[in-house]
Amino acid sequence: MKTVEIKKGIYWVGVVDWNIRTFHGHTYTTKRGSTYNAYLIIDEKVTLVDSVYGPFAGELIERIREIVPVEKIDHIVVNHIEMDHSGALPELMKLCPKAKLFGTAKCKEGLSKMYYPEGGGTSGWDFQVVKTGDKLKLGKRTLTFIEAPMIHWPDSMFTYCAEEELLFPNDAFGQHYATSERFDDETDQCALMDETAKYYANILWPFSGMISRKIDEILKMSISIKMIAPSHGVIWRNDPMKIINSYISWTKNETKPKAVVVYETMYGSTAMMAMKIVEGLVDGGVEVKLFDIAISDKSEVNNQMLDAKAYIFGSSTHDNDMLSTIAGFLEFLKGLKPKNRIGAAFGSCGWAGGAIPALEQMMKEIGIEQVLPSISVKYVPDENELKKCCEMGAELAKKITGKA
Ligand code: FEO
Repeated sequence: MKTVEIKKGIYWVGVVDWNIRTFHGHTYTTKRGSTYNAYLIIDEKVTLVDSVYGPFAGELIERIREIVPVEKIDHIVVNHIEMDHSGALPELMKLCPKAKLFGTAKCKEGLSKMYYPEGGGTSGWDFQVVKTGDKLKLGKRTLTFIEAPMIHWPDSMFTYCAEEELLFPNDAFGQHYATSERFDDETDQCALMDETAKYYANILWPFSGMISRKIDEILKMSISIKMIAPSHGVIWRNDPMKIINSYISWTKNETKPKAVVVYETMYGSTAMMAMKIVEGLVDGGVEVKLFDIAISDKSEVNNQMLDAKAYIFGSSTHDNDMLSTIAGFLEFLKGLKPKNRIGAAFGSCGWAGGAIPALEQMMKEIGIEQVLPSISVKYVPDENELKKCCEMGAELAKKITGKA
């Protein structure tokens, strides 16, 4: 794949990782792969914005060489130190050891710890700490730095080029989406927005407050943004406000009339209850997603939870508690810090129903408002108990749609 000129004299020199299937350990499935985007600005000072994951250093270097000898790089902007964006730096710096790096104070601290001298070294790197509002003149163009702590690491930073009306926000506005196309308008829109939402739900959701404030800050700067070039996925050039508005909605935890039912079952009783609750919800006019969490992809479930108003959780009782897979999932969800959700709990047991109090406690910790009493069933639900599950779904539908 060749470099792509995204603006006159500015080139995408990143890599496409077609085969990556999990990210952040194994917490995030990347069924469509990913990209690590880096951008080369040819000006009086040749400047690289962002780098790539270490195993792809050779591909980055090869792509830079299509445009300019690597030794000619004067500046490297390090918007973020996470390894998928900084791993190639040690290899790169061997070829352009005099290049000056720019990043936040936390970036400098992190790089020093990650690439300590024995591991490739940062001690000889010329690093300039920058803060919000600091500018770097390249020649015809000037870069402005905007610190963006916790979007999504303490070191994170955005870089803006006013002359090109171009924002490099690193992880923000990204997607784990490997494509042969480089721009939003060239690719499948459903897949693009699905991956954009999944990325927000699993990576950025916990930082919604800070993201909201950062977007406000940028909008108040009255800067023109015609293109957003993130560090993962495709570049937004068609309508950058579309993705900014999606982010604004997600930061506000805006939802639609939708319910997600997540359960885990031992012998099928809890599953029977889940199906009846879904029946009531659907008949009540609500969009529903149902997941048996023991066989479901948790990062895809989180994706579905991003715009859902109601969360309904069910579990069989095991060792006087909920089952372990749903317990792990709820811990994951708690860390994502969803807000303004309503919900309910259900489950089955043999003798002592420990799952229900455990589910209720966890829903309380997550901050989900329990709007209906839980339903607990012994052994196998009978006709009357299944009817109650269906009624629970119908009642929830009324509360979700505001008809209660
Ligand atoms: Fe894509 Fe926070 O790294």
